[in-house]
Amino acid sequence: MKTLIEKSLNNTPLYGLGKFFFHKGRSILYFLEKAYLSCINFLLPKRYTVSKVPNYVLENYADFRKDLETYESAWPYAQRDTNRIFTAKYLFEMVATLDVGDYAELGTYRGSFARLIYKYKSKNSKLYCFDTFEGFDSKDVEKETVVSGDIIKSGFFSDTNLESVANYITQGSADSSDSLILRKGFFPATFEGLENKKWRFVLLDADLYEPQKAGLEKFWDAIVEGGVLMIHDYNASYAGSKIATDEFFKNKKVDLIPIADNAGTVFVIKH
Ligand SMILES: C[S@@+](CC[C@H](N)C(=O)[O-])C[C@H]1O[C@@H](n2cnc3c(N)ncnc32)[C@H](O)[C@@H]1O
Repeated sequence: MKTLIEKSLNNTPLYGLGKFFFHKGRSILYFLEKAYLSCINFLLPKRYTVSKVPNYVLENYADFRKDLETYESAWPYAQRDTNRIFTAKYLFEMVATLDVGDYAELGTYRGSFARLIYKYKSKNSKLYCFDTFEGFDSKDVEKETVVSGDIIKSGFFSDTNLESVANYITQGSADSSDSLILRKGFFPATFEGLENKKWRFVLLDADLYEPQKAGLEKFWDAIVEGGVLMIHDYNASYAGSKIATDEFFKNKKVDLIPIADNAGTVFVIKH
């Protein structure tokens, strides 16, 4: 009976179609996916590209889509920076295994990246965020033109404020009063009193030569063994960040590891 059914089904077009899809299904799906991504890339403005994250990676990072959306919602230029966020996630995991050290971000603006640090930081550590919260300072801007030739507008990034940034970073978490410290004002003046601290993770994202240089001088020696320093805008549009970094590390034996993110970030693991 079974053979009879098989034999008669064998000759139907439906069976043939089923067999074809069963065997060729994967390549058809692959082709459709490629076509879908090409359409999206074609329709999007050229500054965007679609980065696909494989499901087996996403399984270990359930919040990925939420993190991308929240990251972008803080300000329009942040974009869905898949590579930056994913690389940071792995670095956060690495530094969480260290015994000591706090977290710092120089240049916080509306808190897009600080929120990620805060969310993935190790439990008993603090996050320090440094920003004028009034945008670029005129002193830094003047120096920038001399050093890199870039013409920068002072006050750029002033559309933020301390209270909303704090809420955004902690996402309303009740126990944040002691674990998030926002230092408002001109860096490096706002570093005062933290000279003996140890750091396990530092992001320098103040864009310009002067604050980036000051950040390197203040933080580098105090980063613990195995700790991570991330430097934003090294391979990107703000030339001053690269100039400051290259000057600072000129006679030091470190490897700057580039990330293919939207702003040409590099990172160093301290040894
Ligand atoms: C590109 S934004 C930071 C973006 C942020 N890290 C994020 O993830 O969205 C650069 C910030 O650096 C800050 N900044 C630049 N120079 C500074 C200085 N000397 N002292 C304090 N903040 C400074 C600016 O106010 C601005 O908010």
